Amino acid sequence: MRLRKVRDAGERLAQHPDVMISDPETHRGRWRDLFAQDAPIQLEIGIGKGRFLFETAKRHPEINFVGIEKYDSVIVRALEKLLSEPLSNVRLVHMDAEDLPNVFAFGEIDLLYLNFSDPWPKTHHAKRRLTSPLFLTRYEAVLRPHAGILYKTDDFAFFAYTMRTLVDAGCTFDRISLDLHAERHEDNVETEFESRFVGRGQPIYHIAFHF
Ligand SMILES: C[S@@+](CC[C@H](N)C(=O)[O-])C[C@H]1O[C@@H](n2cnc3c(N)ncnc32)[C@H](O)[C@@H]1O
Repeated sequence: MRLRKVRDAGERLAQHPDVMISDPETHRGRWRDLFAQDAPIQLEIGIGKGRFLFETAKRHPEINFVGIEKYDSVIVRALEKLLSEPLSNVRLVHMDAEDLPNVFAFGEIDLLYLNFSDPWPKTHHAKRRLTSPLFLTRYEAVLRPHAGILYKTDDFAFFAYTMRTLVDAGCTFDRISLDLHAERHEDNVETEFESRFVGRGQPIYHIAFHF
């Protein structure tokens, strides 16, 4: 994602502690208390400007959603959108996915979304890929046993890397698609990046799996 620096992003995020959770570690094991309804929590990593998260939350008011994003200049855009169209079942966190096990307890997350994560094509950056073995252990540490992970990418090399990593980790595959949009996908919610790639006629690779 091209990053246009927002100078006062930090201050803007701090102004809305009800939806932008500034002290996420203190809620470890008690995330359900942050929502009006006691319901399962689904997590999206790398929400960008939040289009997928907000549309999914609108379609599923019976579920609670947490969206995390590493860059303040990006998540501030998502926050602005959320403030203009509030959703009581959404909370946002400005954090790196590296810290997930410090923020959520084991079993606290019921479903995880990885949408168009950065592919980090250089081998010496492989550890940064959000489907690297180390990141998988972080997800396993916060997910309910057998909870699903839904992954989408436009990048074939990243898709192939992810498949290999999941096989090596002994994951179970629930669905694999080499062209999501050519198949049945009426329940698919498009992300910002996805719309861009689909517009160019590129196939979308999709994997649904669990540990
Ligand atoms: C390529 S963009 C995709 C955005 C959005 N998911 C979409 O599909 O339109 C990837 C996003 O993930 C975020 N990101 C990358 N690594 C992350 C990490 N370790 N923790 C949290 N967010 C991360 C980036 O800042 C960026 O906003």
